Amino acid sequence: MQFLNEITDSIGNTPLVKLGRIGSNLRHKLFGKCEFMNPGGSVKDRIASYMVSKAEQDGRLRKGGTIVEATAGNTGIGLAMVAALKGYRLIVVLTSKVGQEKVQLLKTLGADVRVVPGGKLYQDPEHFISQAREIAKAEGACLIDQFNNTSNVKAHYEGTGPEIWSQTGGEIDALVAGVGTGGTITGVGRFIRERRPAVKLVLADPVGSLLTSFTKGTSATGAPYLVEGIGSDFIPGNLDISLISTAIAIPDQESIRVAHKLLKQESLFVGSSSGCIVAAALRYCEELEGEGKTVVAILPDGGRGYMSTIYNEAWLTEKGIVL
Ligand SMILES: Cc1ncc(COP(=O)(O)O)c(C=O)c1O
Repeated sequence: MQFLNEITDSIGNTPLVKLGRIGSNLRHKLFGKCEFMNPGGSVKDRIASYMVSKAEQDGRLRKGGTIVEATAGNTGIGLAMVAALKGYRLIVVLTSKVGQEKVQLLKTLGADVRVVPGGKLYQDPEHFISQAREIAKAEGACLIDQFNNTSNVKAHYEGTGPEIWSQTGGEIDALVAGVGTGGTITGVGRFIRERRPAVKLVLADPVGSLLTSFTKGTSATGAPYLVEGIGSDFIPGNLDISLISTAIAIPDQESIRVAHKLLKQESLFVGSSSGCIVAAALRYCEELEGEGKTVVAILPDGGRGYMSTIYNEAWLTEKGIVL
C-alpha cells in the first residue's frame, strides 16, 4: 500500500513549471513554483505545521489549547488543517479586505473567524496584528505570530529553498517573490545565496505598499491596493531586507491582468499575489542582460479564493480594472 499518515504529510515538493507562453518573448527562462498545489491551497501550509510544532515544543501550546493568528487567510487555512488534526481551537483575525471565499472556507474548517476593519497603520491598536495579540492575551491563547516567528523562515530554508535548488539543478539566477511576512523570500533567499552568492532576490510589491521604498531607502506614503497577502507599511520581523537585490512596484491593474493571462495562456489558476509576482518577474526578465538565465517566480496561492474578486466581472468594473 502507498499512503500518507495524514494529509499534512503531503505539504511541499510542489512542481516547478516553465512559463513558456506568457514568457515566450523573453531572452531568459521563467519558471513558476506552484505553491498553490499544497493541500490547503497555498504556500502557507508549509509554515503552519512548523510553527505549531515549535509552539508545542516551547510549551506555549498544550493539549486542547487555543491558537490565535492574524492572517490574510492562507495561514489561517493551513493552521485550521493542523488544528483539526491535533485537536486545537483556532481563532483567526482577518481584515475586511479578504475575499468571502476564504472567510467561508475558514468557517467551514471550524475556525472562529474575527473580521476587523482593514487599512489601519501598524502602530494603530486597531491594526489586525495588534487585535490578534489582544485576543490571544484575553483568551490565554497561543499567538502564532507568523510575522516574527522564526519557524516561518525555517520552513522555507529547509523546504522551499532546497526544492527550488534541486529543481533548477543549482542554475537559478534570480528568485522573484512577494513579501507578506518575509518568510518565503528570507528562507529561500538565504538557502540559495549560501550556495550561489550571485543569485538576485527580487521583491515584487504592490503599488501602495511601502516595502519598495524601504528597500530603496526612499520615502513614500502608503495607499490602499487590491492585491491580497503581500505588501506592507512596516518591515516584518521575518524579512531580512539586506538580502533583497531590488524591488519592483506593480500597479493592481497589471497584477490582475497578469493573473488572468496566467490562467488563459498557461492554465495556471492563481491569486492576485501570483499576478503581481509574475508581472514583476516579466519586467525583471526584460531588463536582465544576457540570455538564457533562469528566473523562478513563486506562485503563492490558487484562484478559487478570488472568484468574488479578481475573477468577478462586477467587482472588476466596480474597482475600475480593465483587463
Ligand atoms: C496570497 C499570499 N501571497 C504571498 C504571501 C507572502 O508570503 P510571505 O508571508 O512568506 O512573505 C502571502 C502571505 O502573507 C499570501 O497570503
